[in-house]
Amino acid sequence: MSTLLVDIHNLPSMKEIKYRSELTQELDKLRSEGKSIGFVPTMGGLHEGHLSLIRRCKSENDLTVVSLFLNPTQFNDPKDLETYPHNTAEDLEALEREGVDIVFVPSPKDMYDQGEQPPHYNLGRVVEVMEGKHRPGHFEGVVWVVSKLFKLVHPDKAYFGEKDYQQIAVIRKMVQEDPQMDVEIISCPVIREDDGLAMSSRNRRLNEEERAAAPRIYEGLQRGVEWSSAHTVPEVESMVVYYIEENPLLRVEYFEIVEGNTLERVEAWNEAKSIVGCITVYCGEVRLIDHIRFRPYQLTSSEA
Ligand code: PAJ
Repeated sequence: MSTLLVDIHNLPSMKEIKYRSELTQELDKLRSEGKSIGFVPTMGGLHEGHLSLIRRCKSENDLTVVSLFLNPTQFNDPKDLETYPHNTAEDLEALEREGVDIVFVPSPKDMYDQGEQPPHYNLGRVVEVMEGKHRPGHFEGVVWVVSKLFKLVHPDKAYFGEKDYQQIAVIRKMVQEDPQMDVEIISCPVIREDDGLAMSSRNRRLNEEERAAAPRIYEGLQRGVEWSSAHTVPEVESMVVYYIEENPLLRVEYFEIVEGNTLERVEAWNEAKSIVGCITVYCGEVRLIDHIRFRPYQLTSSEA
């Protein structure tokens, strides 16, 4: 049997950059050579979900820039920040294996200026509903760091996972609001474990029993889609919550069936073409988020 050995020393080397000024200098040089730049922001704790974004980015751009930055301003709960799984050495190895060109790894002190204030954007309702309501300040921190990163990297395209469905809506709105931001936002599908659980850095914090319970979240969402052919929106909302919470380790924080772009709640299946169910569930102490798309509503001949 032959084994394929990959000698990482023979791969094109990845540049690791810690300081903002060094990053802009390096990228200005590469941009002036006419290279297109793709960007994948992350907080580390990398898994196949992150890597899928990086692979897509590599296939569509001359250069792939990844940031590894556990952003303190988006954690409204200090305990969540403390326990957030990350291992920079492992992450760097994974990025090198993927053939990333530049990795930006700033420290919080180097990322933010002393006394710096968050930017002010008028983002409307997409920052107020769901995660916005349950994690006050979270999106302000996300918008703060992503706007800073975009202004440093000036990517042609930036890649985000639909795993964080609301985050993409917020980033798109921010880009729309800022005439200086000329970047195309590319959304990429959720990568799941074989049992359906959406991959997340936080899954590493689940104990064995919790890990066994967690796939029930996506099962509940899939059942919700099945039930939607015979039940109203409020009925499906209650049924999904009831189904998931039948497991005592799972507690639903919210499950909302919303219009796919505005994220406003819908009351009936024929109210919108794009309908998504967004959920947050505590599995033990670990907060997990997921979502599912509902089938586009089929008009019956009497409604048409
Ligand atoms: P993080 O949670 O590290 O995620 C980085 C990117 O990977 C996000 O766009 C996220 O949606 C995507 N991602 C995570 N799990 C995924 C999965 N299972 N399938 C597909 N994509 C997945 O999201 C953040 O970091 C931060 O808020 C950030 C945007 C970096 C700002 O700090």
